[in-house]
Amino acid sequence: MDGARDLVDELPDGLVVVGADARVQVVNASAERCTGIRREELLGRDVRTALPLQDTTGRDWWACTDPFRGLATRTGHRERLLVLPGDHEVLVTARYVRSGRSAPVERVVLQLRDTEARRRLENDHAGLISTVAHELRSPLTSVKGFTSTMLRRWERLTDAQKRLMLETVEADADRVTRLIAELLDISRMDAGRLEVKRQVVDLPAMVRGQVDRMVATGQPAERFRVALASPLPEVWADPDRLEQVLSNLVGNAVRHGAGVIDLVVAADPDGDGVAVVVDDEGEGIPAEHIGVVFTKFWRGSRRGGTGLGLYVVRGLVEAHGGRITVGASPAGGARFRFTLPAAVPDFVQLPPTALVERRRGADRRATSRG
Ligand SMILES: Nc1ncnc2c1ncn2[C@@H]1O[C@H](COP(=O)(O)OP(=O)(O)O)[C@@H](O)[C@H]1O
Ligand SMILES: [Mg+2]
Repeated sequence: MDGARDLVDELPDGLVVVGADARVQVVNASAERCTGIRREELLGRDVRTALPLQDTTGRDWWACTDPFRGLATRTGHRERLLVLPGDHEVLVTARYVRSGRSAPVERVVLQLRDTEARRRLENDHAGLISTVAHELRSPLTSVKGFTSTMLRRWERLTDAQKRLMLETVEADADRVTRLIAELLDISRMDAGRLEVKRQVVDLPAMVRGQVDRMVATGQPAERFRVALASPLPEVWADPDRLEQVLSNLVGNAVRHGAGVIDLVVAADPDGDGVAVVVDDEGEGIPAEHIGVVFTKFWRGSRRGGTGLGLYVVRGLVEAHGGRITVGASPAGGARFRFTLPAAVPDFVQLPPTALVERRRGADRRATSRG
């Protein structure tokens, strides 16, 4: 029997066997890991209390399925996502073992799987595809609507009406282009192929540049307050990527926030690099959403965005070796803070692609000099 026990412990998936009396007979090592419950706390106990599985709406799964008294023809359940106390998620497949058709259940065999890998896959596939399709469809529907109207009623529309429609079409086309650019970044990020071409960057100039751009596109200059510490540690970063990070954060503060936007660049007190803070005076992000703002496609409001901005921002900051956090600003709005490590000395801790890029850059410089 010891050999058999070793064998079940080697199974990659969790295994729990329950007798007709609802008592747990077998628990393997993976099941302990999946459930977070120790074998001793399960063996010999009534499974309905020792392993209190619930469905995702909080209903008691054992009461709902009632394997010991339910439909006498049931042979089990297909894999489902269930929850254990403490929000512990498990994928459960159940098999009811009977001695013959319609005979009482002799054993219930549960197969348990970790949700992590599956969920990641699900999010990346089904969820992504349907969200992308939806995100692409809404601007395209509007483009189609306005262009057909213009084609059909060209003579009857005033120039002002045509202009308005064309402006909408242009904005929608921009939106689709932006979405596709973000998706390409995400696929590079997820595949670990995002290239960061580092060079010394003038962070204060970049921050001022962002503000100038916002003002040029119609934001009142009084909306921005910039505080730049000096001197600042030297930062090596990819200037295009850093622009992207800043423009997303500032754009979010303008669009989702309100009031004055404070931009602070200073030495990072917890490291050797710099920290950039973007504060606003809007409603901020409710505590219950703090954990999800960096998730793909999550958005709290319908103000134009795709919900990909912050996911991309986090990926870019981390690709630079920095960290990004979100919290509340002193005025009660949102505070986004990210760090960038100090100058990266030659040949240290660069991902291989970045290293190659730097070498190539150095070669180019050498060639142009010679
Ligand atoms: N400064 C902010 N103030 C309030 N909410 C914010 C702020 N920045 C981001 N958010 C919230 O986080 C969500 C996700 O942001 P993001 O990923 O940039 O997507 P998007 O801007 O496309 O909606 C936004 O929809 C918004 O609800
Ligand atoms: Mg955004």
